[in-house]
Amino acid sequence: MKETIGISTSGIPGPKSRELMQLREQNVARGISYALLVFASEARGALVEDVDGNVFIDFVGGIGVVNFGHNNPAVVEAVKKQADRYLHTCFMVVGYEPYIRVAERLNQIIPGNFPKKSALFNSGAEAVENAVKLSRRYTKKTAIVSLESAFHGRTLMTMTLTSKVRPYKFGFGPFAPEVYKIPSPYCYRCRFNLTYPSCDLRCARHLEHFFAYECPAESVAAVIAEPVQGEGGFIVPPQDYFKVLHEICRRHGVLLIIDEVQSGFYRTGYRFASEYFQVA
Ligand SMILES: Cc1ncc(COP(=O)(O)O)c(C=O)c1O
Repeated sequence: MKETIGISTSGIPGPKSRELMQLREQNVARGISYALLVFASEARGALVEDVDGNVFIDFVGGIGVVNFGHNNPAVVEAVKKQADRYLHTCFMVVGYEPYIRVAERLNQIIPGNFPKKSALFNSGAEAVENAVKLSRRYTKKTAIVSLESAFHGRTLMTMTLTSKVRPYKFGFGPFAPEVYKIPSPYCYRCRFNLTYPSCDLRCARHLEHFFAYECPAESVAAVIAEPVQGEGGFIVPPQDYFKVLHEICRRHGVLLIIDEVQSGFYRTGYRFASEYFQVA
């Protein structure tokens, strides 16, 4: 692959990308949207070369998931080594050490000074779905509270927890029952027209009001929140927001689920954004 950026076609997209786009339109369902008109051929580090030989700087990284750069040699080597040994046994049928080692390592690095266990899932939405299942089973309660402007995924439950209507929810109802919303800590457009810090974190304290007037804490299994909201508009709460929210949850026997699908693994500079907010 070329090592520097450069455009070699007379326009973008080039002829091969245009051809692939036609094929895509014939064969790929419209629900899978696209952002760019070019198709990748190779990628290294921060560069992507398209099928026509144009090389771009990639500011997307698979939407923030290729944290070590494209085709990081250590990652590629590990994938190859594993592919040579076995690809799939189903851990629940025939176990294997790498699953256990990943869980062990996660338990070491995830915030919280208490013993932990981990479960691995195929996607962010599946992880959130399972957090909801676990919290319901553990608390023997059913209601789940999420934040306005939240994004938690595209499955039925996670789409219900999501607040951004277009494109995620529009036309896809009815939604899952027993999901409620509270205002998010969005200082720039405060729902209460207040200013931090004199607001005394009214948005977090609103949870008490919610328990009194909308849904009793005795019915609420969990509150779920992204430490830094992503799809809702990159909303960073005041640093003490989660301490107050968690304290209210604890006092009422309600769990707090922290969705780090987008903010985790150094995307905010901290390994997990919840370290910054000192919440576990
Ligand atoms: C905060 C958050 N939660 C959940 C998800 C869903 O993850 P996935 O797309 O892997 O299902 C996302 C995806 O962007 C996300 O940003």
